[in-house]
Amino acid sequence: MLEETLDRLIDAATEAIGNSYSPYSSFPVGAAVLTDSGRIYSGTNIENASYGATVCAERVAIFKAVSDGETHINAVAIYTNAANLAFPCGMCLQVMSEFCEDIPIILASDNLVRIYQLSELLPHRFGDSE
Ligand code: THU
Repeated sequence: MLEETLDRLIDAATEAIGNSYSPYSSFPVGAAVLTDSGRIYSGTNIENASYGATVCAERVAIFKAVSDGETHINAVAIYTNAANLAFPCGMCLQVMSEFCEDIPIILASDNLVRIYQLSELLPHRFGDSE
């Protein structure tokens, strides 16, 4: 991935965290996805008094893209301003895997960036068969 694209993705995820609605966990997360058309869709976590109704930042970003007709994702960036990087949860990994191949998953905080492949975080998905 181009350095410039990587920076744009991280910037979009960082900006999205500003709208995080996370009064219950106080753990804001920002995410951004790069689609086939080259567009970047961002999202943030949206919590609910009924905790299980919470939606993670990654799924918000993915669903925004898909509902805009963009069903193929080429990279995902996840930003937290916590001391440690945050890995995407299992549900978000499963949702990502529906709309991409083995893409880079970029984890970022203020002073750290690490890039994983989706296959490292989710070696098998529901939907695969042996
Ligand atoms: N969260 C995300 O937005 N993405 C993840 O991959 C893991 C967790 C959010 C959900 C909840 O609002 C907060 O982080 C604490 O779990």
